[in-house]
Amino acid sequence: SKGTYEFYMLKEIDEQPGVMRHMSQHYLDENGEPKVDQKIIDAVSQADRLYIFAAGTSYHAGLVGKSIFEHYTGIPTEVGYASEAGYHFPMMSKHPFFIFLTQSGETADSRVVLKEANKRGIPSLTMTNVEGSTLSREANYTMLLGAGPEIAVASTKAYTAQVALQAVLAKALGEKLGVKEAKDWDLQHDLAIAAEGIQQIVDGKEKLEKLAKKYLVPSRNAFYIGRGIDHAVALEGALKLKEVSYIQTEGFAAAELKHGTISLIEKGTPVIALINDPVTADLTRGNIQEVVSRGASIITIVGKKFANDEDTIVLPDINYYMSALLTVVPTQLLAYYASKNKGLDVDKPRNLAKSVTVE
Ligand code: F6R
Repeated sequence: SKGTYEFYMLKEIDEQPGVMRHMSQHYLDENGEPKVDQKIIDAVSQADRLYIFAAGTSYHAGLVGKSIFEHYTGIPTEVGYASEAGYHFPMMSKHPFFIFLTQSGETADSRVVLKEANKRGIPSLTMTNVEGSTLSREANYTMLLGAGPEIAVASTKAYTAQVALQAVLAKALGEKLGVKEAKDWDLQHDLAIAAEGIQQIVDGKEKLEKLAKKYLVPSRNAFYIGRGIDHAVALEGALKLKEVSYIQTEGFAAAELKHGTISLIEKGTPVIALINDPVTADLTRGNIQEVVSRGASIITIVGKKFANDEDTIVLPDINYYMSALLTVVPTQLLAYYASKNKGLDVDKPRNLAKSVTVE
């Protein structure tokens, strides 16, 4: 039940520290070593390429997963929209392995790809929140997200669970393959930092409500920008905001704005910039200047290492590869408060259903 919450979406955002702790307790042993079914590790470690298929928010979790898998396992990883891959099947490497990310386990678009994979004998794993769901039954292997039921149409805790579960698999796989980065990785520590950091962010939610009221509620459009993993989170932040608040929002690779879209920036256009990537932090600052000088109202969400006094939201320190677990939370809260303060039904945005069972 919703308990004292007005909407499930906020309850589910607030549950994310618990989701991170559950992930650690369920999937790591007392030494922090992954507890993943050996059959899954053996099967995935045969792969010369991973292919992640998903839709919507789960697809955005897959984009983060790509960075994690490539860094910690050295296996090239591709991410595709299930709805596209089902009808334009991508060219395959010699030994592909398919990972389906699906909260519900019922998404028809993803099922089309899985059916084709089964026909071709391509091994597959479904990461899902729903035990016994269709995609779980039809894939060779399943790993459960264990996020607890997600009732709000807009996905929040399933996203962070998907990012964390991909990290668990990446660590297990990288260790099996002898990858140094995986062996040296203290994932248990990172998940603890994620749990604490998310708690800190949700404890500061009033500030995000004020920002949403001041900058987003009065606006017809908005932008999210970021580079690297922040780009993947920008796409997710934009989807969440437009989905529940009906404010048209685009997520952009920060440097791409100047290749065309910057012409949409006017006085007061809200631009939310995400900065956690050590490689590109300074460059993104330059992109912020470009939009500020065209009159944008800027909100920055920045990792502590990269922050200055003018930043709007400063996030606790975390491993870059796990940074989406923190960065996404203020974006969820901004979406929630924009919707709520427009008087909308946050949990049931118009025209949408919780699982999409048509192609
Ligand atoms: C957005 C959202 C959707 C789903 C998408 C895939 O907030 O919830 O974009 O992520 O429909 O659903 P699953 O993960 O159930 O396959």
